[in-house]
Amino acid sequence: MSEKIRVLLTEEEVDRKISELGAEISKDYQGKTVHMICILKGGVCFMCELAKRITVPVSFDFMSVSSYGAGTESSGIIRIVKDLDEPLKDKDVLIVEDIIDSGRTLSHLCKLLQNREPASIRICTLLDKPSRRVKAVNVDYTAFQIPDEFVVGYGLDYDQKYRNLPYIGVVEFDED
Ligand code: IMP
Ligand code: MG
Repeated sequence: MSEKIRVLLTEEEVDRKISELGAEISKDYQGKTVHMICILKGGVCFMCELAKRITVPVSFDFMSVSSYGAGTESSGIIRIVKDLDEPLKDKDVLIVEDIIDSGRTLSHLCKLLQNREPASIRICTLLDKPSRRVKAVNVDYTAFQIPDEFVVGYGLDYDQKYRNLPYIGVVEFDED
């Protein structure tokens, strides 16, 4: 079996949309500092591109979580693999995610971070698969809603591959 990548969203489309989101976020956070939290590893490319287009002050922190349970479905009980370096108290937090699928990871993570008493928490995601949602998540900024297909690129991986693609693609398998 070999894999092929079919382009779903071109580099230009992603770029344009991130610029729009950056402008919207800059407007919404006038007079504030956006404390951007990147969910590793998938959120890293999106976070960098988005941050470059935000015109209000920004600070960065990084978190890595893994979902308990076997298989491809996340269980919703998350383990913190790498915690944040900074406290969240009184900060205006923007969680930056690659993709929201079932919503389990983010719904659990939000509750966990809310306990650290930030001034506000908002969620920004590059991709959203709304048809897969099991747990409700309040998403404030979405770049693209996509159908239920497995996508890679722009930080997203298949078996740790393709994170560096500058576009979003669907993985297709060939029998050969
Ligand atoms: P959930 O919302 O808790 O189901 O989990 C979302 C996480 O699953 C994302 O942060 C990704 O790491 C991973 N994921 C879901 N769908 C895809 C996909 O299409 N490609 C790559 N990773 C995905
Ligand atoms: Mg992720």
